[in-house]
Parts: sequence; structure tokens; C-alpha cells
Amino acid sequence: MNRTIRTTEDVLALLDGLFPPAEPFWDRFYADRSAGRPFFTPEPDENLVSWLGRGLLPPAPGRALDLGCGVGRNAVHLASLGFEVDAVDLSATAVAWAEERAREAGAGARPRFHRASIFDARLPHAHYDLVYDSGCLHHLPPHRRVSYLALLDRVLAPGGHFAVTAFAAGAMGSERPDEELYRLGALEGGLAYSPDELRSLFREFTPLEIRPMAAQEADSPLFGVPFLLAALFRRTTDGPVGVPTGGPTDGRG
Ligand SMILES: C[S@@+](CC[C@H](N)C(=O)[O-])C[C@H]1O[C@@H](n2cnc3c(N)ncnc32)[C@H](O)[C@@H]1O
Repeated sequence: MNRTIRTTEDVLALLDGLFPPAEPFWDRFYADRSAGRPFFTPEPDENLVSWLGRGLLPPAPGRALDLGCGVGRNAVHLASLGFEVDAVDLSATAVAWAEERAREAGAGARPRFHRASIFDARLPHAHYDLVYDSGCLHHLPPHRRVSYLALLDRVLAPGGHFAVTAFAAGAMGSERPDEELYRLGALEGGLAYSPDELRSLFREFTPLEIRPMAAQEADSPLFGVPFLLAALFRRTTDGPVGVPTGGPTDGRG
């Protein structure tokens, strides 16, 4: 069959195919634990700890969802504070390591880890009070922002918080326009976002804080690198996030 496109999902899947598959890349990334990548550390993000400490994020108990959780740094931290945590990652190698980390962390509730794409994960709850993403969004191809917004629309509770860390434009990541990435067929190690681009992408939410992550010393109990932006938003309105699917979108149809 040559004429395969019928739905929006078919278009998104076709566009996925223009880039190298992500899963084998991430499995290789986590396979060598001695590689010493910044994200291999067990420490939670300094911005997450700061937002909780300053009351910008409500304390536990609550339901939290960690998107692209990697080795579970932030998921394990949130669970240790008493949040009920679901954590999703595409890489089986990362999830196995995250499970180990959670066991080693000892007492208290553990996150539930799901090996899946964030777009396909079968989550036990319909809604989460906090959706947290440290470093996943910037690895998604541009068209998957459509799926990402639809995911947030589905899972973020009314009044809930959404937080993301992403490569900071000017510090790290590709600054090519979206269109060029498709011509190139590569994401160049991840996409850079400016504060305005994050505000625009998540325009249905109220921004509470957008700032560079605070770099941490080697012996810090927190994770912080200067090349990431940390952004915190709240879902304060009732309307949909992104373009509602399943109907006309802009009247030009
Ligand atoms: C830079 S790492 C960050 C890991 C972790 N959040 C942390 O901060 O330590 C990005 C993670 O996103 C995951 N990822 C990328 N695309 C994904 C997708 N579509 N669904 C689920 N996980 C994904 C990768 O497997 C990887 O673990």
C-alpha cells in the first residue's frame, strides 16, 4: 500500500520515521554506567527541590508523573517525600537501573516505573497533580509537541503543576528552526528552547517561574547544570491544552 496516511497519528508516525529511532540510542546511552553522564547521578534537580521548599509546588501527598524519568533521580526523590509517583521511560536499560536505584533508596513508597513511550504508557491514574519532565521534551522531534500537549491535556489535573527542564537556547542544543531539522533528518543531540518559546508552547498554562538551572558543586546533594532552563507552570484555566484532536481546528479545513 502506498497511500497509508489517514489519521493525524499516521502523519505523526510518518514524521517519526524521518529521524533515527530513539529507543536504541537511549539503551546504548544507559548501557555503560561508567560513562559518567551528568544524568547518571542520583541527585534530584535543584529547581524541583527549590520549588517544593519555597511552596511554589504543593507538598506531598499528591500524584506525580515523571516523563522520560531516566534512572529515576526525580521520581525516587518525589516518592521519598510521600508523592505517589508514576515514572515513564522509553529505555528498558534506564528503567531497570531506576528500579535498582529505588530499591537501594530503601524505606518508603517506590515509584511505579513504566517502560514505554510517554505517548503510549498505560497509566494507572487519569490525572496527576504534578507532571515533571527533566530533559525529555528537548529530545522529541518538533511534531511530537502536538502529542506532548495532548498528553498534558489528558493527564494534568485542573489546578495541577507542570514543570520541565530543557536545553537553554544560547547554552546548549540545536537552534535550527523546526523545518530545517526535517530537511536534515536529525535533532542534533536535542533542541534548544528559549524562555519565550517555552511560554509560547505552554501558553494555556500560567508560568510561575522560568530560569536557568543553578549550577551545583560536585559535592552538592542536588543536580544542577547551567545549560538547562527550568520552567514551572500551573494549569489555571479549564480549556484544552494545545489543539483539541478529533474535530476541526482552525476553520480552514
Ligand atoms: C536526558 S535524559 C533525562 C533523564 C531523566 N529525566 C533525568 O533527568 O535524569 C532523557 C530521557 O528521556 C527518555 N525519552 C526520550 N524520548 C522518550 C519518549 N518518547 N518516551 C519516554 N521516554 C523518552 C530517554 O530514554 C531518556 O531517559
